[in-house]
Amino acid sequence: MRYWSTRGLAAPVGFQEATLQGLAGDGGLFVPETLPQLDFPALKGLDYPQLAWRVMAPFCDIPEPDLKALCEDAYGPAYGGAVAPLRSDPWGHVLELFHGPTFSFKDVALQFLGRLLNYILTRRQGHCNLLVATSGDTGSAALQSVVGCPRLRAVVMYPKGRVSSLQERQMTTLLEPNTYCLELEGTFDDCQAILKELNRDADFKQRLRLGAVNSVNFARLLAQSVYYVWIYLQTGEPLQVVVPTGNFGNFLSAWLAYRMGVPTRRLALATNENDIVHRYFRDGVYERGPVHETLAPAMDIQVASNLERFFFMAGGGDRVAEWMAQFEQTGRVETPRLEGPEMVSGSASRAEILQAIRDYHEQVGVVLCPHTAVAWHVARRLPRLGSEVVVATAHPGKFPEAVAEALGRPYPGHPALEALRDRPRRAVALPAEAGAVRKWLEGLSDSGENLP
Ligand SMILES: Cc1ncc(COP(=O)(O)O)c(C=O)c1O
Repeated sequence: MRYWSTRGLAAPVGFQEATLQGLAGDGGLFVPETLPQLDFPALKGLDYPQLAWRVMAPFCDIPEPDLKALCEDAYGPAYGGAVAPLRSDPWGHVLELFHGPTFSFKDVALQFLGRLLNYILTRRQGHCNLLVATSGDTGSAALQSVVGCPRLRAVVMYPKGRVSSLQERQMTTLLEPNTYCLELEGTFDDCQAILKELNRDADFKQRLRLGAVNSVNFARLLAQSVYYVWIYLQTGEPLQVVVPTGNFGNFLSAWLAYRMGVPTRRLALATNENDIVHRYFRDGVYERGPVHETLAPAMDIQVASNLERFFFMAGGGDRVAEWMAQFEQTGRVETPRLEGPEMVSGSASRAEILQAIRDYHEQVGVVLCPHTAVAWHVARRLPRLGSEVVVATAHPGKFPEAVAEALGRPYPGHPALEALRDRPRRAVALPAEAGAVRKWLEGLSDSGENLP
């Protein structure tokens, strides 16, 4: 299988190369040349690790026994047999994706991606520094993804005093030999600007072997598409899901499953007040707006990177480079209606998120995280078809303040996170300047510390 860039200028590459590069050399995103069709009778009755192996195999230039071992390792011990349990409720089901080491759906893809990168680099005698900018949530999942992966280091930049104390604790108490936290005197935007600047310097990027694990990496979406196949196999009904999405990665993964042949009734996407993709699906216009701070902060995004892949794969083809150039210059682009099953969208305001947490708790006796509450809010306003599956992306104990506000009483953080309170922490304080981070990374690289 070869992978093409959505911008059409970079040469096609194989799966391993696409995974290592993350972003294509022409600034585009890698997409597979075809979407292999699933053989459902062969998938029936498989457990999650086996299903992941079978679904991903046609996309990967990796010997099948090796891929199988990677999936068993990623989805075995860390999950204790519960990667994506479906809990029934009066509306249908909730797919709980928060049983991994950092209690976020990001673990589902990153536990696999870390091992996959380590596997590729072991064969190439190489190593890689995963530099990550985080506003709180991605950081800990990225750090956890390299545990036990000696070919990788994860270096996470976060803004000092602007991530929750619980998130900071989750990152800085992980004292592995290949995990590093940089506490920068600035904002999340500063961290992201530094990440972009260092990645734009091709020589530095190559010398320091910088890698990316955000959802521009196709392997992450591929790993996420597995849980949508899983839903269909577990329920035996056409896929009907509501997906909380920001960068459009989680939703695109559902759409990939549909294109691989999963019978599909309806795909619904749910956003918070940062509703750029909701507006796109409603009006056909992709237009940037101001970023709002919300109770579902992991979706506070106004540029939905993965929409570019949708433009390309749903029929935009050679017009994508032109559309993206227009969007980058003016912050607005209009596209024709692109191919898909029934796709609908909705968004939730701050008050609606709080109300959804309250109502779901009253009616079902279960607490939802604010991101999942966005999806449930959208779900209950949609016309009833079959039974709906709401995708739950984080444990509510990661967002105790929002839940406490909704329920009107104190709500404890997740016990495992509370237990980290007294653990020693490790972070390096730096100014929010690309030069300072560059110098620090060079020192780390020269030391060759902890790498084979
Ligand atoms: C808890 C949570 N839910 C939902 C999402 C949305 O995922 P995506 O932006 O990849 O569509 C995120 C993304 O960061 C998240 O952290």
